[in-house]
Amino acid sequence: MVGIEELNEKDLKEASNFVDSLFPSVYEEEPGSLDLSASLFPELYEEYLQKTEIRNLKYWVAKSAGIIVGIIGLYNYNTDKDCEIWIGWFAVKSEFRKKGIGEKLFRFAVEKAREQGKSILNVYTSNDPEEASGVEFYEDHGFRLIGKEPWTKGMKESDEKLDKLFYQQKI
Ligand SMILES: CC(C)(COP(=O)(O)OP(=O)(O)OC[C@H]1O[C@@H](n2cnc3c(N)ncnc32)[C@H](O)[C@@H]1OP(=O)(O)O)[C@@H](O)C(=O)NCCC(=O)NCCS
Repeated sequence: MVGIEELNEKDLKEASNFVDSLFPSVYEEEPGSLDLSASLFPELYEEYLQKTEIRNLKYWVAKSAGIIVGIIGLYNYNTDKDCEIWIGWFAVKSEFRKKGIGEKLFRFAVEKAREQGKSILNVYTSNDPEEASGVEFYEDHGFRLIGKEPWTKGMKESDEKLDKLFYQQKI
């Protein structure tokens, strides 16, 4: 049985290791797990939040038998319209995929976004083969590709042809 809980301080290390193992710091200079820490301790991460122009970070974890098996977040950029919100790091542990946990986390986040009065859901991913399952998930769950930009930050030479992909849907 998989339950969804708000991320708390006790689970921060386990959740951070999970995020950093799946999303090496290729998008930005910092590890993705900084977002998790910043969601719990915004006052300690004020500089990071200012630099990234991020606010209202919130994360939830899916747990099975007390172990974190998935994660999803919601956040805003300072430049967002009032109706918009973004999905943060979203993943399910590989051995737990294709059992509906991603769908459960996604529906949960959509509900939370609606509760905040949001009607436009954004997410970015990439065309890195590691994230092909994410692209497939988004395309199967009502998102449409609205933008693409060359992926330049923290790239390895071998990654040169990758793009950052921006998806959006009305909720
Ligand atoms: C994207 C991701 C979170 C989806 O998680 P998930 O738990 O596998 O998602 P679900 O199980 O709800 O759905 C995945 C597929 O399994 C299928 N499925 C769900 N329950 C199933 C079951 N009991 N038996 C067989 N198939 C099932 C779904 O229909 C879906 O099929 P599709 O790929 O043809 O659409 C996961 O693949 C992942 O972590 N990917 C790597 C990280 C990533 O790319 N994240 C997103 C980019 S930021």
